[in-house]
Amino acid sequence: MEEKRWYKDMVFYQIWPRSFKDGDGDGMGDLWGVLEKLDYIKSLGCDGIWFSPIYPSPGADCGYDISDYMDIAPEFGGMEAFKKVLDGCHARGMKLIMDLVVNHTSDEHEWFQKSRQRIDPYTDYYIWRPAKPEGALPNNWDSNFEGKAWTWDDERQEYYLHLFAVKQPDLNMDNPLVREEVKNILRFWLDMGVDGFREDVITYISKKEGLPDDKLFPVYKGMLQYNHGPHIHEYLAEFKHDVFDHYDCFTLAEAPMVWPKQALKYIDEQKGQIDMMIQFQCQCADCFFTDYMPHKFSLRKMKRAFSSWQNKLAGKAWNMLYIENHDHPRIVSRYGSEEYWKESAKTLAASYLFQQGTPFIYQGQEIGMLNWRPENPGMYEDVQTRYQYEHTNLKKSPKARLKKLWRASRDSARTPMQWDSSENAGFTTGEPWFYVNENYKKINVAQQEGQRYSVLNFYRKAIQLRKTLPVVRYGRYKEHFKLSNKQYVYSRQMPGEKILVICSFTKRKLEVRAPRSFDLRTGRLILTNYPAQERFLQPYECRVYHWKE
Ligand code: GLC
Repeated sequence: MEEKRWYKDMVFYQIWPRSFKDGDGDGMGDLWGVLEKLDYIKSLGCDGIWFSPIYPSPGADCGYDISDYMDIAPEFGGMEAFKKVLDGCHARGMKLIMDLVVNHTSDEHEWFQKSRQRIDPYTDYYIWRPAKPEGALPNNWDSNFEGKAWTWDDERQEYYLHLFAVKQPDLNMDNPLVREEVKNILRFWLDMGVDGFREDVITYISKKEGLPDDKLFPVYKGMLQYNHGPHIHEYLAEFKHDVFDHYDCFTLAEAPMVWPKQALKYIDEQKGQIDMMIQFQCQCADCFFTDYMPHKFSLRKMKRAFSSWQNKLAGKAWNMLYIENHDHPRIVSRYGSEEYWKESAKTLAASYLFQQGTPFIYQGQEIGMLNWRPENPGMYEDVQTRYQYEHTNLKKSPKARLKKLWRASRDSARTPMQWDSSENAGFTTGEPWFYVNENYKKINVAQQEGQRYSVLNFYRKAIQLRKTLPVVRYGRYKEHFKLSNKQYVYSRQMPGEKILVICSFTKRKLEVRAPRSFDLRTGRLILTNYPAQERFLQPYECRVYHWKE
């Protein structure tokens, strides 16, 4: 039987701080801006915030390269602004979770600076290896962002491992001192009152002994040697036992390449070490494994991913539900239709907000923000995007290479939040640190506040429904018409109450189909994105029906 925990009743809002709202006019989003917008977030029905990193950082990976874990970056307003935001959340009955990035630090972190000079106790805080004969790299692993996973350090005269950017050296989690550091960081924030952590690529922290070559995997070589590594469950259990068990908090693990069966080893409510997991399968309905290997959107692939997690976790573990975050392009531009942006934004919302789990909404998703498409590749900021442009597909035309970035780059979803139709979309009164999407006059919060049937108000309504209907929390999930590649139909059912969600994913008109046990004539239509219901489903129409005995 499922355990009762407060996060199960919540809806979270993810803030990517640089682009959310600038409060002090320097062009970069900050916590003063967040403070101004807490009521807005609350008005969506969200009762929790996940902050992408706000710690001091040189910014090589927009904050995921941390140089001090126990402070807040001055450009975000420092500790003073953070404490106001934390109090502001709690005063509104909202929770706040931080991003815990401990697979790696910044190379500018004091630990790394001392480690490269072999100053104890930091000497073995990172993963250092001598060169092999003839200067060869210690193994054949690739980094996720910038070429090979090893960089030579002149000072120490050894290679260090970095599974991400060159400026993100991996910590040596096998060293008990490093694990103690992690626990101190956790206690520091929990004692201050934060309510939990999203744990960045946490399944990478335990590397296979001897760091063997990867002989199987064609891309991201090495992944099989460090993802879900030998001591992962042991280390996570240690963090849980020594820290999390002493606080009323929750943990959310980011896990690239994970399937439900394996996920259960982490998040099983009886035996797990973590509360929820961010899986990537729901992001692979239009690509193989990464956005840089795109294919045409397949609704069936999306449905399979959704249903597999719903079915296999049922009664055993709790799902984290999302369709967007800061690592992927905008979902309407991918799984929906820009031509029918309003309709498809709503259908996408309905397709996941009525599933079982805790939903997360990424800033701008609630107004249907679309991909950014710069005309010049030099405008990209993201380290991964830049590397991809400079080193892959070099034989293709510049236009084709640029188009690939439009589709795949994380920057497509990192442009400033579109608040209103004033200059810089109301994001800043200064010079924005990044480009504002040109469509901001058409897509912005202020305009949608004023429209009853806006995407924004659809999100509000859907969230309110999921909070008031017990069936959304407890009901059994079932997918119908699985083979359809045009519509996604699912139900949730418990004794005395049921809902049916019908979502069209095509521009063509479709016959309305409902399973026999759901008589649409007796159900109450509680949510839809068209003013009138016709015999046929309109392009990207969605309908949610409700029955109560
Ligand atoms: C995670 C983050 C991503 C970051 C990477 C390295 O995948 O979500 O934004 O670049 O880890 O920290």
